[in-house]
This record gives sequence, structure tokens and C-alpha cells, in this order.
Amino acid sequence: MCSKKKILIIQSIHAAGIKLLENNSNYEFEIVENTDNKFLKSKIKDCDGVSIRTAKLSGEVIAAASKLKIISRHGVGYDNIDLNITKSKNITLAITSTANAVAVAEHVMFMLLHISKKGNMYDNAVKSGNFNERNKLPKTLELWNKNILIAGFGRIGQALIKRCHGFEMKVYVYDPFVSKELIEKHGGIKVDSLEKVSKNMDAISLHVPLNEKTKNIINYNLLKNMKKNCIIINASRGGVINEIDLNKALNENLILGAGLDVFEVEPPSSNNPLLKNDKLFLSPHTAAFTEECMTRMGIETIQNILDFFDKKLERSKIVKI
Ligand SMILES: NC(=O)c1ccc[n+]([C@@H]2O[C@H](COP(=O)([O-])OP(=O)(O)OC[C@H]3O[C@@H](n4cnc5c(N)ncnc54)[C@H](O)[C@@H]3O)[C@@H](O)[C@H]2O)c1
Repeated sequence: MCSKKKILIIQSIHAAGIKLLENNSNYEFEIVENTDNKFLKSKIKDCDGVSIRTAKLSGEVIAAASKLKIISRHGVGYDNIDLNITKSKNITLAITSTANAVAVAEHVMFMLLHISKKGNMYDNAVKSGNFNERNKLPKTLELWNKNILIAGFGRIGQALIKRCHGFEMKVYVYDPFVSKELIEKHGGIKVDSLEKVSKNMDAISLHVPLNEKTKNIINYNLLKNMKKNCIIINASRGGVINEIDLNKALNENLILGAGLDVFEVEPPSSNNPLLKNDKLFLSPHTAAFTEECMTRMGIETIQNILDFFDKKLERSKIVKI
């Protein structure tokens, strides 16, 4: 009789995902919340599979896993995983590629609308008994007929364009790796240079992975030439926007505002000036935290492990490293 496969779930996931393991007699599992390297090394050493959320899975920890065959990421980004050692040990890295695009795209629309409609200011006016001040409040903005640039046209960018079209926005797309044909098929306009196009945009939303090419792609040089009413949304990864430059640009009124779901350091330190800037609307890396999406991600994370051992994991779920 084959022994049970052992799965380590680092950081708990939705119960619907756990249920898949509970109902399968070929597996045993343990859920751990402690993400300390030393602790993880002791836990991972005899595991066949691992699921991981946002905690760092260092080379040192992966190296300690003598049987590990699959790392299943709860999410799509994998900058928290040491890819060198994953590759050298021939470990498969899976992502929940179908689970979270809609949730993130909705979050972008929420941030864009919140900033355009001055959500906090108008809400405060009513709650603080200043209803009659409404004529004195700064006017809100419409999304209708506005230019938005989507940088990165993968799963989330493609979910976002549909929502932008719902608001009758004109959508430009910057993604050197996606064809003009595909972008046009989605109703977008392909652009080849961030520098040239960003100065005409009313909104910019970032959906690129974080790597050496995308780090700080939004910086002061770009920000200083943007429209004064431009709103930037980042629900990708923190380092894609230079935070110091963004704060400076907001303080100099070079752009209207920004919505950030992600930060260079998470959680951001309490003295990070972004936390005190009224022109920013922030969320704690929760763009994908809808009830529906967390259920889907929990299920997909575990299903990817089961599919891997059943030799039927789809190629689109596997990261090429
Ligand atoms: N905030 C959250 O909770 C959350 C949730 C899911 C994903 N994310 C992040 O969102 C980002 C996008 O996710 P996705 O699922 O759409 O990924 P994806 O891999 O489907 O799409 C990324 C796109 O970026 C493009 N790209 C790569 N390098 C580029 C460059 N230098 N310039 C322009 N485009 C470039 C790729 O061609 C690809 O089309 C990732 O950074 C991911 O980590 C964040």
C-alpha cells in the first residue's frame, strides 16, 4: 500500500480548499501559521507538497525539503519564492491562475471610482453634519470618455478592460509581449512607449509582474509630465511604483491621486509618508480578498496539488522557470 502524501499548508486558506484534502484518503496535511525559516525547515523536510500564501519561501527552506515535488501558490505572483532552488530541485510551481483576475479588476474600478468621486470627503461631509456644504465641496469626476492606460495585459489587465469599457472609457494598453491583434480584439489601443502615452492619460493601472524591468517604471520623470487630473492605481506589486517619487508628485499636485493595494515593504512602516497623504486611497494587499475569490483560490491551490500528483495539472497553471 502506498503511503499517504504529506502536504504542508503554510498560512491557512479557505475551508473549501482544506475540505478537498480532508475528503481524500491519499493525503495527510498540516496547517501552520508560523513562517519563521527555522520552523518551516523542520516542517517541510518530509513533505511532498506545499501551499504558500504571501510568506517568503526561502532557498534555505526549500533546500531542506528532500521529497518536495510541488509548491502551490495561493495567488498568481511568486516573487516570495526562491526560484533558483525551485528550478534546480525540479520542483513544479503552480499558481491559481483562474481565481483572482475578476476580484482584482473590480478592486481597481473601486479605487478609481472612490478617488474620482471623492468618497471619503463626501461621506465625511454627511456624517459630520455638513450636508449643506455640498455646493462648496470640490467637484467629482466622471470616468466616461476618459483615457486609461493598462500596463500589463495578462489575466488581470484583460479582466479590467471589460470593466473600463462598461464605463465607456478609452483604453490604451502597454504590454510589449502581447500582440496588437489581441489587444485590438479586446477593444484596446496598443502603445509602445509608456513615456509617450502617459502624459495624455486620465488614469493608469498597473498589472505587470515585479522584475528588474518593471521596478520603478512609474517614477518622477514620468509623473512630472502627467495630466494634473491623472489617477494611478497599483494593485500589482509595490516596487513597480517608486513610492518616494509618487509622494513627491502628489505633494506637488502633479497628479490628482493614487490608489495603492501593494507596497514596497509590506506592511508599510508606520513612518512611511504615504500613510499620511490624503491624496492616496489605500488597501492592505486585499484586492483579491473577496469572499468569492478566497473560496476559488483556496480550492484551486489544493486542486493544483491533487492534479499534479494525478498527472493532470494544466500547463497554464504551471510557472515556467
Ligand atoms: N493585489 C493583489 O492582491 C494581486 C492579486 C493577483 C495578482 N497580483 C499581481 O498583479 C500582477 C498581474 O497579474 P496577472 O495575473 O495579470 O499576471 P499575468 O502574468 O497574467 O500578466 C502580466 C502581464 O504583464 C506583462 N508584462 C511583463 N513584463 C512587462 C513589462 N516590462 N512591461 C509591460 N508589460 C509587461 C506580461 O506580458 C503579461 O501579459 C502581478 O504582479 C501579480 O503579482 C496582485
